Amino acid sequence: MPPTAAKGVADENLRFSSWKFAQGREFLTNKMLPIGQQEEWRMKTCGFHPGNSRKGREFLTNKMPPPAAKGEVMTSRITGTGSCLAGTCVTNDWLSGIMDTSDEWIRTRTGIRERHLVKEETTTDMAYEAAVQALEQASVAAEDLELIVVGTVTADHVTPSAACELQARLGADRAMAFDINAACSGFLFAIQTADAFLQAGRFKNALVIGAESLSRIMDWSDRSTCVLFGDGAGAAVLQPAETGILGYDQGCDGKKGSALLCVNRKNHNPLTDEEQIVDYVHMDGQEVYRFAVTTVPASIQKALADAGVKAEDVKYFVLHQANLRIIQSVAKRLHVPEEKFPIGLDHCGNMSAASVPVLLDEINRKGMLEKGDKIVLSGFGGGLSWGSIVMEW
Ligand code: UT7
Repeated sequence: MPPTAAKGVADENLRFSSWKFAQGREFLTNKMLPIGQQEEWRMKTCGFHPGNSRKGREFLTNKMPPPAAKGEVMTSRITGTGSCLAGTCVTNDWLSGIMDTSDEWIRTRTGIRERHLVKEETTTDMAYEAAVQALEQASVAAEDLELIVVGTVTADHVTPSAACELQARLGADRAMAFDINAACSGFLFAIQTADAFLQAGRFKNALVIGAESLSRIMDWSDRSTCVLFGDGAGAAVLQPAETGILGYDQGCDGKKGSALLCVNRKNHNPLTDEEQIVDYVHMDGQEVYRFAVTTVPASIQKALADAGVKAEDVKYFVLHQANLRIIQSVAKRLHVPEEKFPIGLDHCGNMSAASVPVLLDEINRKGMLEKGDKIVLSGFGGGLSWGSIVMEW
């Protein structure tokens, strides 16, 4: 039997979490084991590897003494969404007036018709707008937020993070806030991180954002990249629930990182006398394309297996919006009709970490999601990185 609630924890609902934390502290303080023996320790004391969510749930439901009380944290679910696109809409035709490209090339190679770009507004401005909408839909006050995680590679500053700037702007004074740099997988990594905190019983209200001002890091003389990207932000409120996130997959292949690269800046270092560099995005489009069409379907299959859900039972697959041809190829490889893949890239372009949450908010606000629907979210890109989540709405 676990010990009773830790001193000072009055809320009965926190009883299990307190026990887990007490065990964790004991492990950290008294029983620090060599790495090789930690897995054995976890199996002995917990009966599951904490990194595996499905086994974790089995443990919670089958092996937890005493039986889980009603309302016990099993997983987490999205209870509100919001989005914001940058203020200036830029069409393919407009771009063809300033560089050697055409609406025909961009549409047929990518499916993109237009994108929204920032002028004065910042990444935090857009994240704030998306966050306010999501909090309102979830009926969560900013001051009740305990965690803010922003997936972005274009925070307004190196420090403070976009999440900290957002925390200040929202007045979410109690929230721990940090950014995740996982490029186009950023929102997926952010959700998985927030979900881990919620499943641990640590927090009850998390805000997860994907926000980017990619036009600020484009080389506007490189037509092979600058026509592809757009600026915007999407947000989701995540709360503990008995059903919601059902399965995951995520991964990285750092060896292929140079396929999508942005050095960003390198100062003039007096020790090495190297030149100062200000750099922009470079992409080996075909290499990333090949990566996407093989890794994404495999990742979705793994997440579905982790969740115990069949592809045909999924209502929508909300994918990172890089290229219509990639989405069509993923649909084909999964043997799923293309109609199950909502499209946002036609009017938003590729917004990296913002693509998935903006599209999710659009289909949510169109009333396309009903309680109990199973959906898949999947992101992929710089790193190289990828992440997929299966969830029940
Ligand atoms: O979000 C992160 C994940 N990113 C992705 O998933 C992107 C994956 N890659 C892609 O979507 C595609 O590779 C692109 C859309 C980036 C490029 O399409 P592609 O069919 O691979 O084109 P390409 O790079 O092979 O270029 C074909 C031709 C070239 O001309 P030549 O050498 O055949 O004469 C390019 O110079 O198209 C030319 N080109 C353009 N022409 C007009 C490249 N960019 C443009 C342009 N307008 N904007």
